[in-house]
Amino acid sequence: MKRAFFIIAGMILWAFSAGCGPDPAEEKSATPPAESAPTTPAVSPTPRAYPVTARTRKTYQFYCAQCHGAEGHGNGINAPYLTVPPRDHTKADYLETRSDAHLFTAIQKGGLAVGRAPCMPSWEHTLDESTTHSLVSYIRELCRCEAL
Ligand code: HEC
Repeated sequence: MKRAFFIIAGMILWAFSAGCGPDPAEEKSATPPAESAPTTPAVSPTPRAYPVTARTRKTYQFYCAQCHGAEGHGNGINAPYLTVPPRDHTKADYLETRSDAHLFTAIQKGGLAVGRAPCMPSWEHTLDESTTHSLVSYIRELCRCEAL
């Protein structure tokens, strides 16, 4: 009985040392496994001139989330009181049909300036141009889409 135990324990130890430890020679030449490869962003690999920063996200939460929702789904606290529903910024099917310039003008000059509803306010006097550009980048991040 005791002997059988030692044999089994020995086999287990052998299995560990032989099969489970990393083989240093192999490690050097091995290519990294797929899961450790750098995850490419789902959206455009092209770097944006106005990247999304922590400040962009804060700005969105402060000025946009009450209508567009904290996560951009168009379900902010004010949404039920608007005659036109706020745009869902996570929906690519509409946003990919609009250029960055369109989104920029919509934010800067308001909905009316791009032929949309006036309940999308103008932010020209609140946000500077680079913040507005970075909000366009953020909307592209939310919709995981680019203009077609
Ligand atoms: C008072 C509510 C309200 C606030 C606050 C608001 N929006 Fe909007 N937004 C709307 C509504 C409503 C629409 C939909 C207009 C339409 O479909 O005609 C819209 C549409 C948009 C659009 C799409 C324009 C289009 O072509 O439909 C963008 C981009 C946008 N908003 C960005 C922003 C950003 C960025 C902020 C914050 C700086 C913001 N909005 C704040 C109500 C709001």
